[in-house]
Amino acid sequence: IGTEIRFYPTIDSTNLEAKRLAQQGAPDGLVVVAEEQGKGRGRLERSFFSPAGKGIWFSVILRPDFLPQDAPKCTLLSAVAVAKAAEDFGMKVGIKWPNDVLAGGKKLVGILTEMSAEMERIHYVIIGTGINVNIKAEEFPEELRDKAASFSEIKGEKIPRAAFFRAVLEHMDALYDAILREGFAEVFSEWRRYSITLGQTVRIIDARGGGQGAFVGKAVDIDEDGALLVDTAAGRRRVLAGDVSIRPQ
Ligand code: BTN
Repeated sequence: IGTEIRFYPTIDSTNLEAKRLAQQGAPDGLVVVAEEQGKGRGRLERSFFSPAGKGIWFSVILRPDFLPQDAPKCTLLSAVAVAKAAEDFGMKVGIKWPNDVLAGGKKLVGILTEMSAEMERIHYVIIGTGINVNIKAEEFPEELRDKAASFSEIKGEKIPRAAFFRAVLEHMDALYDAILREGFAEVFSEWRRYSITLGQTVRIIDARGGGQGAFVGKAVDIDEDGALLVDTAAGRRRVLAGDVSIRPQ
């Protein structure tokens, strides 16, 4: 990952650019990074705040030869890589299942994984990651202020973006190597190390229940698919996609 890096002063969205490049045959591991995104994209068709010079907005093209159903797990790779880079820089963060990187209950990183596949074959996976690096609290749009934070706020000083980016890419590269060699076990065990979800009482809104299936239980582990295992009064439930809130105990 990162053998080739394409840099853009400004772009609509690094995920969109990565998709265009992937469709033209860009290789496994190509990285697209922008100083600023005009149309940063979040999950659920939301937009993603990506101001100039204050974050790391990037996308990685992967062309793994595993099955399409394994692709969503690649999202964990990015969350773990950022958590490890943060640790290298003396900051402690936690990961909330599946891939929210948090400190003090606020979100530092957004990750959007997109895939093109047919039948049993992956054409490409794009992991888009937005890292809030040097954004001051008052610079966030008002609606994000109580939900989002940046690494410089945690550290109490500006963070050198290039060095931080390098650390993230190095961790991603090492984790991706491990995935290709021996599967997701290492990513999962690293994920568990940073998890703030496991062991907690959580309230889950299962994405497949159309918001109907909210329930409470204790998050006990993730399984080999990356699904969250939650013990409830009615037995163990397996959550593949959903919204999790951690309940104060
Ligand atoms: C989310 O939290 O909803 C996911 C946000 C993902 C943002 C990143 S920034 C780099 C890449 N390009 C995009 O347009 N989105 C992702």
